[in-house]
Order: sequence, then C-alpha cells, then structure tokens
Amino acid sequence: MKIFTFLAVLFGTASLHAVAAAPAPIVIKFSHVVAPETAKGQAAEMFKKLAEQLTRGRVRVELYPNSSLYKDADEMAALLKGDVQMLAPSLAKFSGLGVPEFEVFDVPYLFPDRGALYRVIDGKIGRDLLKRLEPKGVVGLAYWDNGFKQMSSNKPLYTPADLKGLTMRVQNSQVIAAQMRTIGTTPKALNLADTLQGIKSGAVNGTENSPSNLYSQKIHLVQENLTVSNHGYLGYAVIANKKFWDSLPNDIRNSLNNALAESTAYEKSYAKYDNDRALQAIGQTGKTEVYVLSSDEEGVWQRAMASVPKQVEARIGKTLLEQVTAEAQR
Ligand code: LMR
Repeated sequence: MKIFTFLAVLFGTASLHAVAAAPAPIVIKFSHVVAPETAKGQAAEMFKKLAEQLTRGRVRVELYPNSSLYKDADEMAALLKGDVQMLAPSLAKFSGLGVPEFEVFDVPYLFPDRGALYRVIDGKIGRDLLKRLEPKGVVGLAYWDNGFKQMSSNKPLYTPADLKGLTMRVQNSQVIAAQMRTIGTTPKALNLADTLQGIKSGAVNGTENSPSNLYSQKIHLVQENLTVSNHGYLGYAVIANKKFWDSLPNDIRNSLNNALAESTAYEKSYAKYDNDRALQAIGQTGKTEVYVLSSDEEGVWQRAMASVPKQVEARIGKTLLEQVTAEAQR
C-alpha cells in the first residue's frame, strides 16, 4: 500500500471510530400543561438551554408545553412509567402520586403574601414535603411559582354569595373541592386543556386560576367577569422519575441541578410580572370586567372560607397543617 493510501485509511478509520464512539445524548422529555410564554413555560425553556449547554450536548431536553404530550390527568402516570422524565405539575395535583399532603397549598387564604409562601417552600417544611415523593419513585427537585388565584365567571362576583349555584372548574384537589363546596358551588375537576371547552359548552360556569393561565389559555375570552380575590395559591414542584435521575452520571446530575437552580431563580422573579401583565391584558380586551376586592370585601371572602382548614385537616394531616399555618402567618 502506498504511504498516502495507508494514512488515508488510518485517519479515515480513526475518525469513523470517533463518530461511532460519541454516545447518544441522554434525552429528557419534560412535559407540562401551560403555555410557553408563562413563567413555567419560560423557565422550562431556560432549563433546556442551560442543561444542554452545561452538559455540552450530552443531555437533550425535549419540551412538551400546553398539554401537547400529556394532559394533567395522565402526566403523573407517564412519569412513573418512564414515558417522560420530568414534569412541573401544580401542587394541587400530587394526590395523583399518593401524596395528598401537598394539597395544604390549596387551603384558601393560608398565605398572606409571597414572603409567607417562600418561608414554607424554601424551609424545612418544603424540603420534607419533597422527600415524601421518593418512596413513590419520584424525586422533587425544586418549587416553581405562579401566584394567587382569582375567580372568574359570567356574572359579577362581588361576594362569595354571588357564586352560589355555579359549577366551577377545579384542579383535581379535594381541598379546592371543599373550598368550592363551602361557598355553595359545585366543583368539577377538568384538565386545564379542557377548561375553555368546558365553559363554552356550559359544563362549567366559571373557574379559578392565575391571570397568567386565564389569559394564555384564552379562558378570559369566554368569561365576562373576573374578581381579584387572591383566595388561593398556585405553585409547582419540578419532579423527575427517580430511577432515571439516580441513574445519571454524577457530573451530568450536577450540571442539571445547576441548570435548575438558575431557571428556578428566574422563574420566581418572573411569575409576578407575568401575572400582573396578564391581568392588565385581560382588562384591556374589554371582554372581561375585572373587579378588585377591597380589603374589607376580601375579609368577607376569607370568613366565608374559614371552615375549610378544619374540613380538610384529616386529609392533609393536622400537624402539617398547623406547621404550615404557623410558618405562613408568623
Ligand atoms: C391548572 O390546571 O389550572 C393549573 O394547575 C395548570 C398549571 O400547571 O398552572
């Protein structure tokens, strides 16, 4: 063999080996149910970008926003089966994993402000709650924020009595159901993706959600009235399939944790802005009348829902409820 041909064969083979030896990227399917432009959607995009950068392409994150892969009711089962590797469901949906204690976050008027909420999620209570997921095959990685929920319907809602007789779309949480029954409404659990149609068809008359979700799901277009009641909290836990997460090489897991820490800080700083902007945009459409409760009026709503903690104490656990209440209201 001539020397030139010999070298060509040698280097050709070497580069072939180099290509063959490059391992396929680890794929993380990350599914969620809200629009890409929301705080959760934006933070998921940031996580993807950072995770791919920090692992130099050894991880590829595939995002499936807006229920494009799974709706709320199916995503937990998909995570447990390993059909997706990461989710960021709302804290109201964790009874689907057999951990109804997370419904403590649904207790109405429990958190006077975001600071109170952060004391709970960023402290021991928040960490211990995430640990409760591990025996279920799930690792809790971070809390993400949305904000406070508002009530919407097709009639003005000035007092809780105005809601009497309405059927309200809720997330699948027994605590939210108790809240709705307490003010004389019938709660109906629907996937977020089915809510717009549910209102259009008359299956439900109204709902509660953050302005960001109401706006990005176009629910405001079929609701003439929105009351800024701030009666409940909406937040998330970013979770992963534990078997998958534990099987990752240490350096990859560290990079993913770093990507998540940065996206979490961003998410928390963006959520309030996102909701303020959405509320303003809803008002500007001229289709929905936005009514902001005065603090006296909010007091009436609070008193109307005051029996809920007692009703749900057995489900959440008396001690946990007391701990969260003490931390939130100190
Ligand atoms: C809802 O179903 O109303 C919300 O929890 C959706 C979400 O993830 O914000």
